[in-house]
Amino acid sequence: MLTYGRLLVKDMTDCQGVAEGASTPMELYERLSAQGGKVRSLKSAKAEKAEVDAAVQLLLMLKMDYKQMTGQDYKAGCPPSDNVGAPNNGPAADGAGEEDTVDPWNVSTTNANGVDYDKLIVRFGSSKIDKELVDRIERVCGQKPHRFLRRGVFFSHRDMHQVLDAYEKHKSFYLYTGRGPSSEAMHVGHLIPFIFTKWLQDMFDIPLVIQLTDDEKYLWKDLTVEECHRFAIENTKDIIACGFDLNKTFIFSDLDYMGASPEFYRNVVKIQKHVTFNQVKGIFGFTDSDCIGKISFPAIQAAPSFSNSFPHIFGSRKDIQCLIPCAIDQDPYFRMTRDVAPRIGYPKPALLHSTFFPALQGAQTKMSASDANSSIFLTDTPKQIKNKINKHAFSGGKDTVEEHRKYGGNADVDVSFMYLTFFLEDDEQLEKIRQDYTSGALLTGELKKILIETLQPMIAQHQERRKQVTDEIVKQFMTPRPLNFKL
Ligand code: TRP
Repeated sequence: MLTYGRLLVKDMTDCQGVAEGASTPMELYERLSAQGGKVRSLKSAKAEKAEVDAAVQLLLMLKMDYKQMTGQDYKAGCPPSDNVGAPNNGPAADGAGEEDTVDPWNVSTTNANGVDYDKLIVRFGSSKIDKELVDRIERVCGQKPHRFLRRGVFFSHRDMHQVLDAYEKHKSFYLYTGRGPSSEAMHVGHLIPFIFTKWLQDMFDIPLVIQLTDDEKYLWKDLTVEECHRFAIENTKDIIACGFDLNKTFIFSDLDYMGASPEFYRNVVKIQKHVTFNQVKGIFGFTDSDCIGKISFPAIQAAPSFSNSFPHIFGSRKDIQCLIPCAIDQDPYFRMTRDVAPRIGYPKPALLHSTFFPALQGAQTKMSASDANSSIFLTDTPKQIKNKINKHAFSGGKDTVEEHRKYGGNADVDVSFMYLTFFLEDDEQLEKIRQDYTSGALLTGELKKILIETLQPMIAQHQERRKQVTDEIVKQFMTPRPLNFKL
């Protein structure tokens, strides 16, 4: 298997990512005090052992984070003084010397190879998609696994074996994925979950729901409600252009569907009742000055994980298992969802996590739609694609042709090579490119040319398909209606 991402995660103590978002000792102190109070009240209320244990565990992790951040032990009633703030971002004691930030709003690392996904698995407590699981998917669906599985683009999962067990017993499941429509412009990285979801839909022949969180983008960005809704519709056209089956796919904007579906809203309030402010603070790092819309939003991203949120598709069935393909930065939402599910009588959704799609400038960060030079957009012309790759794609090659021939290039940090691992279908060709680049036989300019010639037709075809998507087709996908499938 080809892997391109290895990196180092700063704090291994933070197994659940509990302290993500706490940027000052004071914030962490406040979170600790609140958690201490919660443990006390659970104990005095004689709450269930599992619940008390979970609260204590979180408290212990916060204490470790506090010690790491301030260099001091947490003492209840003694807030940190101003001068203790030991740097949290200095070199780690184990010599790792690098730091990754991964949450729904930030992805960054100082390591040129990108985020260390193996460590992320440990930190998030998910499972690795290993060869055994890839082989099993191949056996169950009788087809060659998608290149994203063969190459570790989808690298982590929760409960995928359980989904396959059920499928083998002819119990159906459904797919759920989504997109936050923050602008009209989508880039190639945004297509990764959709390309893969389309493959899963074809493979398993199951229904799919796609959430456009225009409400989320309104709450987080400086945009009007109308703009966010319009972006949702525009993005929907790009999503439809990925080839989803109208008979099996329901796409919805939160701004539209929340008000149209009592069943959806009922699930939202059930989730809201079972998650405390303190929990979302711990998971998402919200602070007292965040608007209440943000604080309650995670319930809206959680609700589509439950089948009875879509009565037009599933009737009143609440027991149909959901599988969510998404980028790993969305996992905090679904850790929360999985925690709530059994308490409101629903199955936990299973997950498949992808790595990030790196920016042209290098794997330290993911592509950003707000920086035109960091991304290849779905609207780029062949010429723009060529220029961006030639000018901006970070190269693992040597400075001169002589040196490159002599020492070879480094495919692990080369962005053009990384992009080829996402989009070039032929495994043998890809492996040959890697070897030739590493040996120095293939020059950076030649590697870039292969990438340009891979992306130009791919994007031109996408543009062609998008042109075919009329307003009427958008409306059909977005109308609540029965879908065609057998349970
Ligand atoms: N919050 C996601 C974003 O900003 C959008 C989203 C909603 C999503 N539901 C999802 C992504 C389910 C993946 C799976 O892009």
